[in-house]
Amino acid sequence: MKRTLGTCYYPEQWPVEMWESDARRMVEAGLTWVRIGEFSWSKLEPKPDEYHWDWLDLAIEILGTAGLKVVLGTPTATPPRWMLKRHPDMLAVDVEGRQRKFGSRRHYCFSHEGYKKECVKIAELMARRYGTNPHVAAWQIDNEYGCHDTTISYSDAAAAAFRIWLENRYGTIARLNAEWGNTFWSMDYDCFDDIDPPNLTVTEANPAHSLAFRRFSSDQVVLFNQLQLDVIRRHSAAPVSHNYMGRITDFDHFAVGENLDIATWDSYPLGFLEDRVGADAAHQHKFARQGDPDFQAFHHDLYRAVGRGRWWVMEQQPGPVNWAPHNPVPLAGMVRLWSWEAFAHGAEAVCYFRWRQVPFAQEQLHAGLLRPDSKDAFAMEEVRKVSAEMRDAPDVVSGQAPVAIVFDYDADFAWATQPHGRDLSYFGLVFHTYKALRRQGLSVDILPSTTRNFDGYKLIMAPGLMFMQDALKHALASCDSAVVYGPRTGARNGEMAIPVPLPPDISGLDVTVAQIESLRSDIFVPLQGGGRVICYREVLEGSAQVTLRSEAGEPVAMCQGNQTYLGGWLDDEALDQFIVTTCAVAQIKTLPMPDGVRIRTTKAERFWFNYTDQSVACHGIELEPAGVLRVTM
Ligand code: GAL
Repeated sequence: MKRTLGTCYYPEQWPVEMWESDARRMVEAGLTWVRIGEFSWSKLEPKPDEYHWDWLDLAIEILGTAGLKVVLGTPTATPPRWMLKRHPDMLAVDVEGRQRKFGSRRHYCFSHEGYKKECVKIAELMARRYGTNPHVAAWQIDNEYGCHDTTISYSDAAAAAFRIWLENRYGTIARLNAEWGNTFWSMDYDCFDDIDPPNLTVTEANPAHSLAFRRFSSDQVVLFNQLQLDVIRRHSAAPVSHNYMGRITDFDHFAVGENLDIATWDSYPLGFLEDRVGADAAHQHKFARQGDPDFQAFHHDLYRAVGRGRWWVMEQQPGPVNWAPHNPVPLAGMVRLWSWEAFAHGAEAVCYFRWRQVPFAQEQLHAGLLRPDSKDAFAMEEVRKVSAEMRDAPDVVSGQAPVAIVFDYDADFAWATQPHGRDLSYFGLVFHTYKALRRQGLSVDILPSTTRNFDGYKLIMAPGLMFMQDALKHALASCDSAVVYGPRTGARNGEMAIPVPLPPDISGLDVTVAQIESLRSDIFVPLQGGGRVICYREVLEGSAQVTLRSEAGEPVAMCQGNQTYLGGWLDDEALDQFIVTTCAVAQIKTLPMPDGVRIRTTKAERFWFNYTDQSVACHGIELEPAGVLRVTM
């Protein structure tokens, strides 16, 4: 598949006289794709049932005639003001019980039946009108589900839908009471209608109740997406996508992606650095103009899995954004590096957000490829360079990585329900593991927890899967790969209760977690051989061989056959050693990386990326600041 570039464009924000020259300049810059339409509802339907398609007809015609392929977005992330007159109760409600207001975007509740009908209607009208338009080569449904903390809503519509969801899941109220353990604190219910969403309780709600509400909220996103997907499919054969975000884990992206053709995500390396990466101040300082060296790669690998191989970057930061705690200019070369990194991880396309910086409204301080005065902004030169390099270079051919991490959104829901220690999170644990693998020069595949065939992987890391389906347990226990579980593996049954036999209860691995504790940041457990357990620790028992001990001699990792259980959150030093040793046993070659240098190995090539602002020489390779090198193996 030929790799391509594109941009996000809002014709409705510019005079029609500019569209033709914009289109021509996009083509000249080497762009193939232009995504439009995803926030244009008030322009398409300014009054209820009064439609204005002419401008969109013309925009598609102009862009397509210039040689661009259009990704058409349904505008359902931005319901217009009149929609609230029609459906005053469609607004999402936050955990404090406050109704969200009109005036930005994503203000709808996923459970509101009336709003869902409106979404199906506008999507169907668009699909009918443009479904066979030769210039419309792909679709995007809505925009960034979950962004701005919008997955979970505590509205009346959500409460009503939750009760139906519960009845479908549990059948009888007696069963729900039993599964949730509602005899505790006299929480038994008489009927499903008595159950509310788990917010505004005096102290924490029953974790089973909270987990159920998270699962329900995730399912509502899947259903919402499916409604539009069904109508688009009826009228169009073009592939359908959704653009996911970085570190949004409160709905199951694999479930949303299952019926879509392409997964895309929106990559803002500098925007994410301070709030989403979870790094200390020194790291943030060092990578302030480059972004974290692993955060983009992690999401590339994640969304490759969500898209079952087909994925794009739909929005690539091309300069300062407007929404992070601080909004620096990228180091020269980084826009090129980020673009190539996506291709190295298998992206089909990288699209820059946005074409031109817009001088009004919320994102007026967000850079584009053009300045507000239409001159090239600073990233344009790098985009042209990438486009020229792509013309002359062979396509990237992805291969299977030697290592895989199992990633499970349901585990994230369980950790979020019961983190057991401040700042502990499933995403944090998985990303910590991913970074350690990459520090050893490893390429990683991410696999959903529905995977049953692990053929070809030498090592599977399965940290933090608090509830594991029996079929997954069986598949992992019987595969040929080395498998590393823990901490918190199988710590709960599917209803958020501690199972007996005690966790992890894995066949062929005689380990039992006898006790757990979370640790303040000034308390840690030093390990024999260096490094520490930090944040979270388990007390392990059993007859499996102890492969890692605390200085006091307690077991921290235990191994039997090809299965290992790791009973704690290791610091970087200990985790690095653990990975090196585990890889040596699994016969995986490691290559330690200097800080900020990363590699991605594909079928026949190795890409080197220098995320630092200094030249680096390592392993016989020389890299400029923000350098990218492609080496045939
Ligand atoms: C994304 C969003 C875009 C735009 C962009 C700004 O999250 O999809 O519409 O707001 O951020 O960086």
